[in-house]
Amino acid sequence: MRISIDYTNMFSSAVGAHGIDRAEFASRAAAASGYIASLRAKRDTIRWRDLPYNQAGIVKEIKAVAEDVRSRAESFVVLGIGGSALGPIAVQQALNHPRWNELPREKRNGPKLYVEDNIDPERMAALFDVIDPETTVFNVITKSGSTSETMAQLLTVMRTLLDLYGEEKLKDRLIATTDREKGNLIGIARKYGLTTFYVPEGVGGRFSELCPVGLLPAAVCGVDIEEMLNGAALMDELCDSDEVEKNPALMYALLETCAMENGANIGVMMPYADSLKYFSDWYAQLWAESLGKKAGEARFGQTPVKALGVTDQHSQVQLYTDGPFDKTVTFLGVERYRNEFTIPHAVDENPNVAFLSGHSFNELISAERRATEHAVTVSGHMNKTIILPEVNASTVGQLIMLLELATAYAGEILGINAYDQPGVEEGKNMTYALLGKKGYEAKLEEIKENADRLTV
Ligand code: PA5
Repeated sequence: MRISIDYTNMFSSAVGAHGIDRAEFASRAAAASGYIASLRAKRDTIRWRDLPYNQAGIVKEIKAVAEDVRSRAESFVVLGIGGSALGPIAVQQALNHPRWNELPREKRNGPKLYVEDNIDPERMAALFDVIDPETTVFNVITKSGSTSETMAQLLTVMRTLLDLYGEEKLKDRLIATTDREKGNLIGIARKYGLTTFYVPEGVGGRFSELCPVGLLPAAVCGVDIEEMLNGAALMDELCDSDEVEKNPALMYALLETCAMENGANIGVMMPYADSLKYFSDWYAQLWAESLGKKAGEARFGQTPVKALGVTDQHSQVQLYTDGPFDKTVTFLGVERYRNEFTIPHAVDENPNVAFLSGHSFNELISAERRATEHAVTVSGHMNKTIILPEVNASTVGQLIMLLELATAYAGEILGINAYDQPGVEEGKNMTYALLGKKGYEAKLEEIKENADRLTV
């Protein structure tokens, strides 16, 4: 069972003047062997491609730790941000009950999951209103081991746990996921003897969902992580194909970069499934942070926009049909939902309402997806649809790898480094300066120099 992409509506033959011309696409595709070769040549540095193949031992360890947590925890709290949070949120929403935390324990195949990816003081305080530290296990995740937001959360949680249980017991309630050498978390983890998982070398934050960053929270909530990795392996192999039209990630990247060149500065992702809603968030980081780069005077990138079908048909689709030709839309469609829900008969005889009776919600949501796709197409806007036969561990693993590789190919095509994030690092440094971290005095002066505000 594998996911596929229908990209018919990216071409001018389907959407008219604002679509991609076949000849233009052919000339770009002619360079494809170079992009494939350059990505293959990076295999030793982009180690996230190896994750489906080289983690048998780690998966075993993760499953053992997850089993222990599942047996004693009522809540599992992830402390992390960006790539250390968005994947766990997306996978939990995709593969578990949509109202997981509200289910009674006997109907929930694991502890409640909270992913704390912000430092809003109200949210932080609220967490302690709903969890009981006695039955909570925390997983602090930070690749760099130094992100201020995550470290602030960690210090807060450690204070609470140390006061309640003392140093000896900290390791029963706190698990660390971080770099083996770099950063500050590794030292804390060693000092307190915490169970520690590592983010492997060559696996950047936004490419880390298939390493312990994502696998541990998923396993704690009962997800079949081996199946996720199998799905990712299947997609990785497909996306290594030399035949352009059989290589889904390369096709995705070629089409989107052509569209960008033609002025599509915005990329909308619109899943027609609540289960895939947070995939748009995860993808937004992946696509924006990887491709939003400058090289000399040239600027690159495409602004990702998150939408949800059918909900956002009633807020955004007007713009996607009658608005400017500055975007592509990627629909995510599901062939078989995990529930069938029928609209009952004989509730009201008014034919303007009764036509719905006997149909299912499944039919309705699929019809609305096709209708929106049609409306976007006839209004001349480029769009494509990724079809998941169903949402399960394998197809989710496939989707993760597909979008990671599409991003990597897009980086090759644009000729930029898709794996750094100097803008994010600069923001982190500014925060250190503002909070008085030693060594950032010059940065603080720089901020002060730019401190004149214009307000009204
Ligand atoms: O992709 C990235 O590397 C970043 O966006 C990180 O995910 C984010 O800044 C969090 O970093 P860390 O996991 O080091 O705390």
